[in-house]
Amino acid sequence: MYRRKVMAGVVLAGALGLTACRQDMHNQPRYKPFAATSFFGDGRSARPAIEDTVARGQLHLDQARYTGKENGKDISYFPIQITRADVARGQERFNIFCSPCHGRLGDGHGMIVSRGLRQPPSYYDPRLVNAPVGHFFDVMTNGYGAMYSYASRVPVDDRWRIASYIRALQASAAGASAGASQNGAASPQNGAVSQNGAGQSGRAGGLQ
Ligand code: HEC
Repeated sequence: MYRRKVMAGVVLAGALGLTACRQDMHNQPRYKPFAATSFFGDGRSARPAIEDTVARGQLHLDQARYTGKENGKDISYFPIQITRADVARGQERFNIFCSPCHGRLGDGHGMIVSRGLRQPPSYYDPRLVNAPVGHFFDVMTNGYGAMYSYASRVPVDDRWRIASYIRALQASAAGASAGASQNGAASPQNGAVSQNGAGQSGRAGGLQ
């Protein structure tokens, strides 16, 4: 009887040993962000970039693409190629990051606005219809007035894709209101999305 108990104890301890202590490389020595160290002379564990070097993917020579400006002025062309798939991705990103305030149509009637946050201007405001596309990139990159920057959340090329989708919204509204005077459609902006199918096809594209 006693021996059996001992055996059971050994088996149990063995089973625990098998499950519990698989640390392998899970816990490695590391520094928490910005923690101090005595290893380097300057006491910093985060190392500054070595002089005259650039980390891979961070050269950013193309000023227009990374700032939306040329010689300090907003550019009025897209510095990356925009295909239909890019517009679809722009729509998907827009719906995620911008529509809560700007509304899915960009008319400034987002859900958060209906809860009391300051209302942004409509993208169909002639000032924004005529604004160079670099302006939209700039607003996303640096923020604008009460709107904060989206640079940390939306990568550079996605900002151009969102801008392309805003252009698509504006163009379809313009087309729809031209159509509205002919066929008497009630709402240019609703017409914009349903008439040319930008909303539908883009959404499907976003899921692929
Ligand atoms: C939290 C709410 C909020 C979100 C999310 C938001 N915006 Fe805004 N946006 C605003 C407000 C508020 C203004 C008006 C700012 C002002 O005039 O002070 C604004 C203004 C703008 C303008 C107009 C700037 C001008 O010249 O008047 C553009 C363009 C714009 N936003 C684009 C975007 C894009 C693109 C996104 C998504 C990446 C986005 N916003 C996400 C609140 C938001």
